[in-house]
Amino acid sequence: MNTRISEKTSVISWQSGPSTAPLPPLAAGLPVLGNVIELADDVLRFLTKQYYKLGPIFRIRALNETYTVIAGRDANLFFAREGSKHFRSKEFWQGMDDELGAEVSLISSDGELHTRLRLLQKRGFGKAVIETQLPTVAELATKAVTQWPVGESRPVLSFIQDLVTEQLGAIIIGQGPGEYVADIRTFIRTALLVRVTRQRPGFLLYTPAYRRAKARSLELGRKIVEKHRRNPPIDRPTNLVDDALAAVAQGDLIKDTDLISLALGPYIAGLDTASNTIAFLLYALYKHPEVRKLVQAEAEALFADGIPTPEQLNRADVLHRTVLETLRRYPIAPAVQRTVTQPFEFAGYRVDAGQRIFIGTTVAHFLPNLHPDPYRFDIDRYLPPRNEHRTPGAFAPFSLGAHTCLGAGLAEIQIMLTVAALIHAGQFEIDPPDYQLKIRAVPNPAPNNNFRIRRVG
Ligand code: HEM
Repeated sequence: MNTRISEKTSVISWQSGPSTAPLPPLAAGLPVLGNVIELADDVLRFLTKQYYKLGPIFRIRALNETYTVIAGRDANLFFAREGSKHFRSKEFWQGMDDELGAEVSLISSDGELHTRLRLLQKRGFGKAVIETQLPTVAELATKAVTQWPVGESRPVLSFIQDLVTEQLGAIIIGQGPGEYVADIRTFIRTALLVRVTRQRPGFLLYTPAYRRAKARSLELGRKIVEKHRRNPPIDRPTNLVDDALAAVAQGDLIKDTDLISLALGPYIAGLDTASNTIAFLLYALYKHPEVRKLVQAEAEALFADGIPTPEQLNRADVLHRTVLETLRRYPIAPAVQRTVTQPFEFAGYRVDAGQRIFIGTTVAHFLPNLHPDPYRFDIDRYLPPRNEHRTPGAFAPFSLGAHTCLGAGLAEIQIMLTVAALIHAGQFEIDPPDYQLKIRAVPNPAPNNNFRIRRVG
């Protein structure tokens, strides 16, 4: 099948099946290292630069591996429509399953198995889970501020990570990581860097610090599962772990050994995603006082009569547009990686089966024909008639296709409510006032630890 796309951008064709077209152009790189340094430094900047130089498909090298990259709006449309036919997640994510002792997981599965696992976890990660527990989310944020002495300055990211994992744990599986939070952080970060993105050497998995963090994290996972076994959902709502236990009892989808990974899932899913986005959003507020003023006013209105209702949050237009613009301008998942299962031709170049591929899903966020003046933080992009996020393929912070973030709806509400609760409960100043954003690139982009705020009221 030959598909042509003609909306708004150039016309790009793709075609399934083996092809005799040439291989995509190879990005210039260093001898031996290839593009390792640029990839480790800032994947998004590197992919966007190559897109402008080489077009929507090219190859990059990292040491002795070559990857194909497709990027831009048409790549996003191809990925969303044809991804399941051509790509597999397994190889990229499987190392994480191994570290967690699981045989299968949602993110590393494909096809029919993936569809069934997604259905199993849909309720547990659903929007209703947060909408019915807004007081828990808001109160944890408010408590974190009340425990922060006035005058003290703190690194934003780790403060937010602690809060976000506590919130997600409380609402999705009935408990936050509590005293295990540092272990979860070390375990997840190291496992992702070594086993998934492969940006750090394997020996890190043998260090005492990692082994201890892993053992403690798995211990927490076991405790969560046992607690659910002992207390079935008779006088409380059924949650993600209950659904998983029921599936184990049925016996044909997941096994006992997959439960720990499932129970730790909410922490893993939020640690480097919702947290990083909140940290970027706070940075944007302090750099754009005009937006901050509007968001502050909306936060005060939201909390004027106590904790906001889901309907009130739905109407919080400025906050919502600020979240959308943060997700566009500071995407925390700039690209996704897959293995090619079926060959195809894209924009006149061939991609063979077996290749590792990057889909640069958020390169489209920085194309001026889709988002004029793309590096400017501008929350009015989402107002009619601009509606820049509505052009298919132009906005993909949560990825696209079969593995699109299952927690996207929940995450948006969590981010909005947490930011509103924090700035309602306390007054903060960026520290130092002339701080310039430096992005920590791995495992996902986030403001680095020099981004601090001081509580001043
Ligand atoms: C700003 C916040 C977030 C962003 C930008 C984000 C982004 C993503 C992306 C890009 C993927 C796809 C990864 C891939 O295909 O390789 C993904 C998958 C997923 N996310 Fe999120 N995420 C966020 C927050 C969350 C939260 C808070 C949860 C749940 C608590 C969550 C749950 C999931 C799950 C379960 C998947 C796997 C879906 C599947 O494989 O079918 N995410 N997320």
